[in-house]
Amino acid sequence: MDTSAISEIQARLSPEDPIEILRWALETFGAETAVSFSGAEDVALIHLAAKTGLPFSVFTLDTGRLHEETVQFIADISERYGVTIEVMRPNAEAVDALVTAKGLFSFYEDGHKECCQIRKVEPLGRALEGRAAWITGQRRDQSPDTRGGLEVVEEDGTFGLIKVNPLTHWTGEQVWKLIDTEAIPTNPLHARGFRSIGCEPCTRPIEPDQHEREGRWWWEDTANKECGLHLTVEPEPGWGALPNDEER
Ligand code: ADX
Ligand code: SF4
Repeated sequence: MDTSAISEIQARLSPEDPIEILRWALETFGAETAVSFSGAEDVALIHLAAKTGLPFSVFTLDTGRLHEETVQFIADISERYGVTIEVMRPNAEAVDALVTAKGLFSFYEDGHKECCQIRKVEPLGRALEGRAAWITGQRRDQSPDTRGGLEVVEEDGTFGLIKVNPLTHWTGEQVWKLIDTEAIPTNPLHARGFRSIGCEPCTRPIEPDQHEREGRWWWEDTANKECGLHLTVEPEPGWGALPNDEER
């Protein structure tokens, strides 16, 4: 898809509801178009994709460090919606090498980049092989620093396919309103103060006045809070940077 075609689609789909953006993606790219499901409020995407009545795929990246609640939630959602959720796991040898060399919590010492690369980014590359498009639950309001320029449809330069972000223009409040009104099941961690949910050692609950990303990699700089799944530009020097010891 060339740049002008993408711009035209962005302009056309941006005002549409998330379900219409999903419908466009599934009609355009077919059943192999995969929703990437983290086990958090992006469950709304699976609900909406199911409502289109069109076939779709789902995968999750099981990093080996997810909360037990998230693992259970992923299984529950698979059953509830009758969809197979492909579970991608990291390369065992790469994990062993990292853990043997640096221990299980190296990210607190030298940043999350190395561990995320092994446990998330490399398995994501395998999950996307052979696909024309993938669908994510990213929103602009999740991070003005890194997601403020997000578009509903993008060329994914990192993995070489189309990335569709149906929730781009929705706020977290709109997603939660949909979850409430349509009785969509949720990860029980949300009720315990977790807003954004990632791996257990790198996620914590937040206070009501905190931004949701403050619960992720809280020992690192705000501008660095991406794990590599959604980098659109070369990372700044210091991406996944050294921790601030006082905040740990
Ligand atoms: S992250 O890059 O910081 O971890 P975030 O948690 O905001 O991402 O989630 C944004 C979107 O990325 C999710 O809605 C989902 O589409 C995708 N994603 C994040 N983590 C995973 C995961 N473990 N498995 C599958 N998709 C994921
Ligand atoms: Fe590793 Fe934390 Fe990244 Fe999970 S979020 S892959 S535990 S650094």
